[in-house]
Amino acid sequence: LNVVVLISGTGSNMRALLEAAADDTYPARVVAVGADRAASGLSHADDFGIPRFTVPFRDYGSREEWGIALADQLRQAQPDLVVLSGLMRLLPDAVVNEFAPRIINTHPAYLPEFPGAHGVRDAIAAGVTQTGASVIQVDGGIDTGPILAQERVAVLAGDTEDSLHARIKPVERRLLIDIVRRIAVGEIDLSSR
Ligand code: GRF
Repeated sequence: LNVVVLISGTGSNMRALLEAAADDTYPARVVAVGADRAASGLSHADDFGIPRFTVPFRDYGSREEWGIALADQLRQAQPDLVVLSGLMRLLPDAVVNEFAPRIINTHPAYLPEFPGAHGVRDAIAAGVTQTGASVIQVDGGIDTGPILAQERVAVLAGDTEDSLHARIKPVERRLLIDIVRRIAVGEIDLSSR
């Protein structure tokens, strides 16, 4: 299964997938890494000798034009699956219409709790004692697609956004690696959901 990963930040979750996919027994491989900006995480692709591309959001006059350019780059990589792993952008219709349902996303909360760009911060602000990590199918909404996997993560007294996020990410990575494997071997059929 050929996977393209899209990031905006440090790409630490993506790196975990790169490491898993570097094992020949893992049934998927990352064929390209893309970003909507000069993301520091693109360096992980270089470490693994994987092609990377940027489609800088700021270079385009509109979300729609950015989406068309991003869809062009994705098409060239010929992905069987697109993984959003810390992409801090809502995917435009040009991408969703062409690649859904073969798009999944990781989110650092127990969806539908705390969707959006600040799920960890929002959980802290809400004073909840537990949050979680989720892997969902992307349907063009903001974290609204079918849930493929999720797991609870405790919020500890004194947690900051960073300390809680640092506890959530390893769970995201484990769920993501498992879900991509299950899609690759056909245990999960995204088109039937
Ligand atoms: C991850 O928790 C992801 O779910 C969220 O932002 C974080 C990205 O972290 N959208 P990284 O770039 O993988 O380190």
